[in-house]
Amino acid sequence: MTFADVLQNPLYKDRDVLYALVPPTGLLHRTEQKNELIMELAPILMNSAVNCVFLYGNPGTGKTAVVTELLSELESEAKKRTLKIKRVYVNCSENRTETTILIDALSQINPAKSYPRVGWTRSKAVNEFNDVLADEKSHIIMILDEVDYALRESGDDILYRLSRITPRGESRLSTILISNDMRVVDFIKPKTASTVSRVKIIFSPYTAEELQDILADRAKYAFNKDAVSNQVIEKIAEIEAGRGGDARKALELLDSCAKIALSQNKPKISLDVVDQADSNLEKDTVLHTLTTLTKHQKLLYLAILLSNKDEFNGGEVYQHYVEVCAKNNVEPLSVRRVRTFLVDFSELGLIESEVTWLRNLNKKSRAIKIVMDTATRKKARKLLRDIL
Ligand SMILES: Nc1ncnc2c1ncn2[C@@H]1O[C@H](COP(=O)(O)OP(=O)(O)OP(=O)(O)O)[C@@H](O)[C@H]1O
Ligand SMILES: [Mg+2]
Repeated sequence: MTFADVLQNPLYKDRDVLYALVPPTGLLHRTEQKNELIMELAPILMNSAVNCVFLYGNPGTGKTAVVTELLSELESEAKKRTLKIKRVYVNCSENRTETTILIDALSQINPAKSYPRVGWTRSKAVNEFNDVLADEKSHIIMILDEVDYALRESGDDILYRLSRITPRGESRLSTILISNDMRVVDFIKPKTASTVSRVKIIFSPYTAEELQDILADRAKYAFNKDAVSNQVIEKIAEIEAGRGGDARKALELLDSCAKIALSQNKPKISLDVVDQADSNLEKDTVLHTLTTLTKHQKLLYLAILLSNKDEFNGGEVYQHYVEVCAKNNVEPLSVRRVRTFLVDFSELGLIESEVTWLRNLNKKSRAIKIVMDTATRKKARKLLRDIL
């Protein structure tokens, strides 16, 4: 097979659409959850703050996607009313301490100022947050996604603090919390619980019919006409509905089917490919390798993935690693240890670089590279966050 064969295959039209958070024609189903969320967030348009709106649900049930879509709608509605809104999105599996959550938020509220990623104490971050809010003239909507990670790691202080902040000036602060762990309430102390909204919006697993609609809609954009039959979609939906109704997994399985069809140089995805694709996903080598890494190796690899660059030198990598450690509330290891991890990564094929160079790390010009398509990159990032 040649690259030309792959490019000539009429299967894919736009593969990345399979991994887009909000698809071109919007999200399907979830009307009930959207309506509840609209009711909860409507006060924002009357310039009144809402505190700790909670969304729960298993992985891949559309929590992040629904919030993202609705906030865009809220923003355009606010614009019509000349209300100033700032959306702040913090992923708490990447920022597990109160300090790093606040710093991440601050750098979004105040992008002109550059905040140090490490080295700030909690009280410094809190004071700065209060000061910035006092000067702010907009309504800040803070989304704490995957908040269960932060609660488990650092307790509920962050929620208590956010619920107690009463901005001094014209600003308002609203918070939305997303969790896929129902037991998250166990981490919330009674004194905080009383300040948290009692309404919880539940995202149930998708049924096979719902998954079918989601897959079919995405397939229209991702694949060329007739490449995917209804039977294939039905089968994938059936499999994933039986496993937990995860739309992300269903879309990944569809992608994996397409990859096999491509490798067999077929213009269509046939029904028999689905089972094979399903077992292939389990064996996805890069992702499997990541699960075998030690904790600090995982932190290091996550640091490389998060920095959104394709090439780095050793010093930059170490800097990113120290930041990721701070965000995860972990003491970083020495440069020397980290260097040996890079050698391991290179030998495992997780990064591209010359091992001999890595052993000395003296030539700054040489770069460490990761070669990974966007879809795998997203998957790897999510996987590492989940297993850290
Ligand atoms: N109702 C839907 N319509 C179309 N696509 C959907 C829908 N729900 C989820 N998806 C897709 O499934 C994927 C996962 O959704 P999302 O990231 O919102 O899940 P989540 O509930 O936040 O999961 P996690 O708890 O793992 O963060 C996304 O690519 C999203 O576009
Ligand atoms: Mg999510």
